[in-house]
Amino acid sequence: MQPTLSVQIGPLILENPVGVASGTFGYGSEYEALVELNALGAIYTKAVTLAPRPGNAIPRIVETPAGMLNSIGLANPGVEAFVEHKLPELKTRRAAVIANVAGASEEEYLAVLERLEEAAGPWISPPEGLPISACSARTGIDGYEINVSCPNVRHGGLAFGTDPIQVERLTAALRARTRRALIVKLTPNVADIAPIARAAEAGGADAVSLINTLVGMVIDVRRLRPVLAMGTGGLSGPAVRPVGVACAYKAARAVRIPVIGLGGIMCADDALQYLLAGARAVQVGTGTFVNPRTAEEVLCGIRAWMEREGVERVEAIAKMLA
Ligand SMILES: Cc1cc2nc3c(=O)[nH]c(=O)nc-3n(C[C@H](O)[C@H](O)[C@H](O)COP(=O)(O)O)c2cc1C
Repeated sequence: MQPTLSVQIGPLILENPVGVASGTFGYGSEYEALVELNALGAIYTKAVTLAPRPGNAIPRIVETPAGMLNSIGLANPGVEAFVEHKLPELKTRRAAVIANVAGASEEEYLAVLERLEEAAGPWISPPEGLPISACSARTGIDGYEINVSCPNVRHGGLAFGTDPIQVERLTAALRARTRRALIVKLTPNVADIAPIARAAEAGGADAVSLINTLVGMVIDVRRLRPVLAMGTGGLSGPAVRPVGVACAYKAARAVRIPVIGLGGIMCADDALQYLLAGARAVQVGTGTFVNPRTAEEVLCGIRAWMEREGVERVEAIAKMLA
């Protein structure tokens, strides 16, 4: 038996559930020599913002027990350079391309999405039931992942993603502007992720992805200062996995739309924890830094597990937890 690995996210069918996480895989081409890009279910791009961003001062990365802390600061060339230099190559990808969008105000998110919609053209719906990878006419963007961990400059700098009212408003405004898959990426830096996931669903999101990084800090006790120039940063890697799995579990029970799980996935068993918790798809982030082929290996391991357990459809794993 060949298990069915495809997964539906709103209008988009991914060939398989394993993607590579935003900010850890560039735009894909950076890994072309090391990774079989065609094996990936989805490539989630580095964040795209309205203006170019050089990112934060260095040092902006430090290793931690079972993970790393980063304060890259959404460094990216801005939406115009993305359209000019990245979009043409993204049109040639077999994997679904999900553009990660960030902004410091609602207007900024909307302006980035509108520019990307204009550049990529109308969404071409693949023939009924076919994954996007089987589609010959590709537009370079198959969906959006909205990073709501950004501080809202108009609302005292509190992250959009910590307030359900702002999440619903922003999601609804973006929804009105695109027919492509709309995924809202949630932050774990909240008391309860369930109401935030429900707000994204109420705003019209096709899925929620979680988790983004957890706020952390490392202090150099000899130099008597934080190691990162910004002081704090975002913790990722195996250290955050139990937090991510718990968030996926809670969110999957709070909403009907698919949950995409990530945080600390290093091998197939880690990904299976997310799928069993209720996620329909997964992303590999920091794991790629340790082994660039982690995502491919995770997919092989999920397939082997399904064959062993006699599970026919990957989407069915979400209902298997005792
Ligand atoms: C170096 C680095 C850069 C990141 N940049 C982004 C980004 O631009 N947008 C975003 O939504 N998440 C970004 N993230 C968060 C990851 O996509 C992911 O949510 C988080 O690292 C947890 O997954 P992991 O433990 O598998 O890395 C970044 C993470 C790292 C380590």
